[in-house]
Amino acid sequence: MQQRKILLEESEIPTHWYNILADMKSKPLPPLHPGTQEPIGPDALAPLFPMELIKQEVSTEKWVEIPDEVRNLYSIWRPTPMFRALGLEKELNTKSKIYYKYEGVSPAGSHKPNTAIPQAYYNWKEGVKKISTETGAGQWGSALSFACNLFGIECEVFMVRVSYEGKPYRKIMMNTWGAKVHSSPSNLTHAGKSILAKDPNSPGSLGIAISEAVEVAATNEDTKYSLGSVLNHVLMHQTVIGLEAIKQLEKAGDYPDIVVAPFGGGSNFAGIAFPFLQNNLTGGKKIRAIAVEPTSCPKLTRGVFRYDFGDTIGMTPLIPMYTLGHNFIPSPIHAGGLRYHGAGAIVSQLLNDGLIEANAINQTECFEAGILFSRTVAIIPAPEATHAIAEVIRQAKQADQEGVSKTILFNLCGHGNFDLASYDQYLSGKIVDYEVSQEEINASLSALNTPVI
Ligand SMILES: Cc1ncc(COP(=O)(O)O)c(C=O)c1O
Repeated sequence: MQQRKILLEESEIPTHWYNILADMKSKPLPPLHPGTQEPIGPDALAPLFPMELIKQEVSTEKWVEIPDEVRNLYSIWRPTPMFRALGLEKELNTKSKIYYKYEGVSPAGSHKPNTAIPQAYYNWKEGVKKISTETGAGQWGSALSFACNLFGIECEVFMVRVSYEGKPYRKIMMNTWGAKVHSSPSNLTHAGKSILAKDPNSPGSLGIAISEAVEVAATNEDTKYSLGSVLNHVLMHQTVIGLEAIKQLEKAGDYPDIVVAPFGGGSNFAGIAFPFLQNNLTGGKKIRAIAVEPTSCPKLTRGVFRYDFGDTIGMTPLIPMYTLGHNFIPSPIHAGGLRYHGAGAIVSQLLNDGLIEANAINQTECFEAGILFSRTVAIIPAPEATHAIAEVIRQAKQADQEGVSKTILFNLCGHGNFDLASYDQYLSGKIVDYEVSQEEINASLSALNTPVI
């Protein structure tokens, strides 16, 4: 029998997060104040985040210790399993080996609790009573609801309207863990009202939901804000994925040529890829790390590298990023977690320096890959995760055409058990591709008056 699962003991949960900033020769430019456009110091972030997370955000220390309380809670579902996708390899008749790290075993069903737990922990330690946040597909909102409940913190979630209407079970999940959930844009904030005044039927976007959640935190003394991706500390928390994966592949006696992950703001990509990139940056390895985005929201492949806001209204600091413009509203595709106009500063810098790659894929090809995976491997992937699977299939086919065998690792960052309505639509032929036109991208970018890099 061929070995399918590669497992670790609870004692092998990483003790430290990996901070890639320590190994990057060209570091990202500093964030700028949204009003003055001057570099901001840690104090400017204090109304939104607890001090420990602000320290992590600017830290260049290579290894940051994971508190025992956090490791203990990680052990509810970590270490996560790694699998060899034997069924998919056989179906593709490929010479390549395909491994996947499965983050869907977490209570919320994705990688998102890896950062939700430490974020809730540091807020709790500093006496915070309530956290506001946004969610796209509902994965991040449910992860934070789960984590806040563990620490007795109130959680208020602004959920992008298309997902609020299309994914009712995600909302129920958040409510079950005790969170309050609002459809965004809402009438509860100035940001939401201003969007609704312009477009009462706005489908919402992550950028709008972030504006609403930031406004709630900035205007309430007892409330902090929490972001599920993009920021340096969030990406760092996710590195437990890649650190475990390195140990698991060591056990299997393998090392990947290619690492693939879907890309929304960069957190699950960073989580799996950064620990391997450490070996590129400091150990002479040449692994290819590929981020996969939807063609409907192609900031990495068709956006520009410049300063932009993390939200739609322009309340967050300006971040050096690949962006389609903060006013860009992506088409309502099913991978709600990938409908974000920008990318985190670290991943953007790595892309600009040619140290990582990016590809954009249409949602029908992704669903097709998701169905093939479900039928050959078993797990039904989250629509976001199908983007990685589609790329893995492309890479395996490419390697076969070249007559070589590659070892490919991808992050199966979540299951799709609450996304079955989208599979139903695909199976009944109702899913269409949304390729954004160059005119739309130009119109969104030409409205930007943020600093160029
Ligand atoms: C299952 C899943 N995968 C991927 C993503 C993309 O986000 P990120 O790039 O931050 O991992 C999301 C975001 O919500 C998600 O829910």
